[in-house]
Amino acid sequence: MSKPLIIAIDGPSGAGKSTLSKALATDLGYIHIDTGAMYRSVALLATRRQIPLDDAEILQLLCQQMQLEFRRDGGETKVFVNGEDVSSAIRSPEVSLLTSEVAACPTVREELVRMQQQMGEGGGVVLEGRDIGTVVFPQAEIKFFLSASVEERGRRRFEELQARGVQVDLRQTIEEVRVRDDADSSREHAPLRRAPDAIDIDSTALNIEQVEALMLEVVRERLAQG
Ligand code: DC
Repeated sequence: MSKPLIIAIDGPSGAGKSTLSKALATDLGYIHIDTGAMYRSVALLATRRQIPLDDAEILQLLCQQMQLEFRRDGGETKVFVNGEDVSSAIRSPEVSLLTSEVAACPTVREELVRMQQQMGEGGGVVLEGRDIGTVVFPQAEIKFFLSASVEERGRRRFEELQARGVQVDLRQTIEEVRVRDDADSSREHAPLRRAPDAIDIDSTALNIEQVEALMLEVVRERLAQG
């Protein structure tokens, strides 16, 4: 049997990382680790506890004490923090914006990267994020960098929020995606960057099935090499 792989999927928000990493993990029987959900969970806890988002020391303590777990529930993976299902709460537009701030904090990154490395070290995992192929697992056997135009990503986010009953405006959603892109790409610590050995996929004009097929082809080829 081939060795279980570490698969990294990086890229900006709305490029389809979540849907695709979930689909790929299901196809391969691998574990899916949504690292964005981890940064979102820290942002949610910090705002609830009124912790200033520039207090690196308290944020680090918060991460160290946080019990975070991904639990499979039917076909879905839910995020539990300190025993509470926060899967919906971490997806609100407010938490999305605050997460960029929290994700810029070096102590938060240090703690969460450590957790991610522990979760993934045995292989058989698909990790999605911004720095998986560059910082968390530079040795990952397969790295994808998934992108799409900002308008297309904003439109996808808009539809996703609407489907969940969240009232939003399309132009504002595109603008929020742009603001988050800027924050994630220009921050000092572990900015969104493509690993030099990543495989680029632009999903602007492709549907999920087409991208999934491309990814599976790469994975099968790699697995066949043993
Ligand atoms: O993928 P997402 O939209 O759920 O990510 C939420 C935020 O967390 C986004 O601002 C980028 C940040 N993030 C990060 O800095 N590093 C990661 N590995 C994953 C997410």
